[in-house]
Amino acid sequence: MPLLRSSSTSPGPSEKAQNRVIWLRGTPSLLPTMTQRFYVTTPIYYLNAAPHVGHAYSTLVADTLARYHRMRGHDTRFLTGTDEHGLKIQQAAEKAGRSPQAHVDLLANEFRQLWPKLGIEPDDFLRTTEERHIRRVQDLWRRVAANGDIYLGHYEGWYCVSDEAFYTEKELIDSINEEGKPVKLSPTGRPVEWVREPGYFFRLSRYQERLLKFYKENPSFVQPEGRFNEVKRFVEGGLEDLNISRASFSWGIPVPDDPKHIIYVWFDALTNYWSALGEDNDPLQRFWPCDLHLVGKEISRFHAVYWPAFLMAAGLPPPRQVYAHGWLTVNGEKMSKSANNFLPPAPIAEEVGADALRYYLLRAVVLGQDGDFNHRDLLARINSELGNDLGNLLNRTLGLCSKAGLTEAPPPAAGGELEAALRAEAEEAARKAAEAMDAVAPHRALDAIWAFCRAANVYVDKTAPWKAQKEGNTARLHVILGTLLSACRTLALLLGPFLPQKASEMREQLGLPPLTTRVNRDLWPFTWVDYQGTLGKAAPLFPRLDDARQKQILDALLPKPTEAPSPVGAPKAEEAVADTMTLPVIDYEKFSEVDLRVGLVLSAERVPRKDKLLDLRVDVGEAQPRRIVAGLALSFKPEDLVGRRVIVVANLRPRDFGKGLVSHGMLLATGPSEALSLVSVDERATPGSRVQ
Ligand code: MSP
Repeated sequence: MPLLRSSSTSPGPSEKAQNRVIWLRGTPSLLPTMTQRFYVTTPIYYLNAAPHVGHAYSTLVADTLARYHRMRGHDTRFLTGTDEHGLKIQQAAEKAGRSPQAHVDLLANEFRQLWPKLGIEPDDFLRTTEERHIRRVQDLWRRVAANGDIYLGHYEGWYCVSDEAFYTEKELIDSINEEGKPVKLSPTGRPVEWVREPGYFFRLSRYQERLLKFYKENPSFVQPEGRFNEVKRFVEGGLEDLNISRASFSWGIPVPDDPKHIIYVWFDALTNYWSALGEDNDPLQRFWPCDLHLVGKEISRFHAVYWPAFLMAAGLPPPRQVYAHGWLTVNGEKMSKSANNFLPPAPIAEEVGADALRYYLLRAVVLGQDGDFNHRDLLARINSELGNDLGNLLNRTLGLCSKAGLTEAPPPAAGGELEAALRAEAEEAARKAAEAMDAVAPHRALDAIWAFCRAANVYVDKTAPWKAQKEGNTARLHVILGTLLSACRTLALLLGPFLPQKASEMREQLGLPPLTTRVNRDLWPFTWVDYQGTLGKAAPLFPRLDDARQKQILDALLPKPTEAPSPVGAPKAEEAVADTMTLPVIDYEKFSEVDLRVGLVLSAERVPRKDKLLDLRVDVGEAQPRRIVAGLALSFKPEDLVGRRVIVVANLRPRDFGKGLVSHGMLLATGPSEALSLVSVDERATPGSRVQ
């Protein structure tokens, strides 16, 4: 759980942050005079790729947290931006025939202009090519150097331009390249090169003990815990001094007093979190140290090891927490150039609305774990959760009010047990959602809010207001409608951080003024408040997407594969022989990660308009047969396959061929696609038994 900082006075710019802060857990029980602060950041994005749904994810989580803290009356700051220096950018600019500056100016705008389309409103957008940043990076360097932690040496070792990271020999992976030659790859699977050049070093080796002590004193510094353990193991394994400059290219911030060298892009990039708060006398300095760096899991080491060490060396307090989220796949597949499935977020927001996209990403993905963006699941949730549960509740409520001739709040009345129970549910939802948000778990907060939304729907059914109306029991009818209007008001508040646009539409329909947040005023609905207001005009919040509209959306949004899928996933025939002998030797452990099973083909059908594919149902010993789509049609008639025992790779990530055709496994085969031989076993083998 991140700890919230509070201060009973308005801090002067020169005050030392560490001396003035009191740390409190984020609960409603604070003294009213105390100002809690919340400073949240996203990674700054490299400009070598257009923004995709993975980038949108961190930024969206940060936006939701910032909105929540603002509603709680916390002095809040939300920063995002772009990472614009480094060899990767210089090379991309050269390729595009532009100067690096012209190149980054063009690309940074794509990110900046995207956020409002997703309802994301950062307080600041920092570009690392801005003067205010460059000055502070050089300032931080000078402070670290003055502490005796930077020295000039000579670097010789592996560097990965794509990761902009140095690696030791033992971190690299042995692989083979397209020409079949052995090569070394970075731990993220990207090419590395041997670099020899003079360079400045940071004395990271000095910080091992201090970092371990800091981790011990701050047991939730990195979340989730598994990531923290990885970080600790890395530091416990011993730290080598870190090369923090490059001399072989020029697109970067010059080292103070030695401009032949430029500052290593991670030293430069990490400093954005601090440089965005201005110079020492800037009032924004009150936000340091940062409360929460949201980052992707692969960059937790930079944030949890190097960054606090740089700050310690500069005499600045390290951040309060680093939260590493997982990676998103798209319809079960990793986003990649070859699959052509880098999903741009703006068209999704255009088709289904920004709030539906926000809801989907925040609810369907458990923060901290890997998740999948599935287009069909998105549409299903829009209709059921947003349309039926939430939209209909508001619509039914306003419809019932209109039928009853009610245009404003009925006189307050306590009601009976059902009303008391719903009020308790609302308060419980507010408490649980706040706890979840304080623990950086937006998916859990939405679970709690939805439990209340469903309870409100059940309340309508149980109280049957139409009966009260028929019976002319106006007093009872007013109690029910008043309770429902109050429930809708509560939901509009609880959903403010998640669905900002729809929450304000809800308020409008309820005739409530737009919500304005203010520091030290807590708007979170911990206690039930009776609705007051004059009802506005009702309109469906999430109109139902019928089949035709769903098809239209899927046609517009589903990634289009660039090439036909390869048969059964095996390498092409001519590659097959060469590959076998050059693949690296692996341990049995690695082989045993592949779940090979005996499968019995139950049915096989051709796939319309896909002349290579067959659509199979294969019994692999599970409750239901598996659907496996395989490139066998040029070699086999469907009827020849039925009844054959085959070998199935059972734990392969599902592959989406589009139009609802998803394959849940792969069959082993060899040969060219028009003359394939299937690997099979004899009839004694039971479907589902493991092949090893
Ligand atoms: N520039 C560095 C960060 C410097 S922060 C001081 C960087 N940039 S990046 O553009 O490559 O990645 C930015 C973020 O996007 C990372 O947190 C990364 O995890 C996230 N994502 C990139 N692809 C992703 C998914 N497929 N899913 C979720 N997030 C992913 O690293």
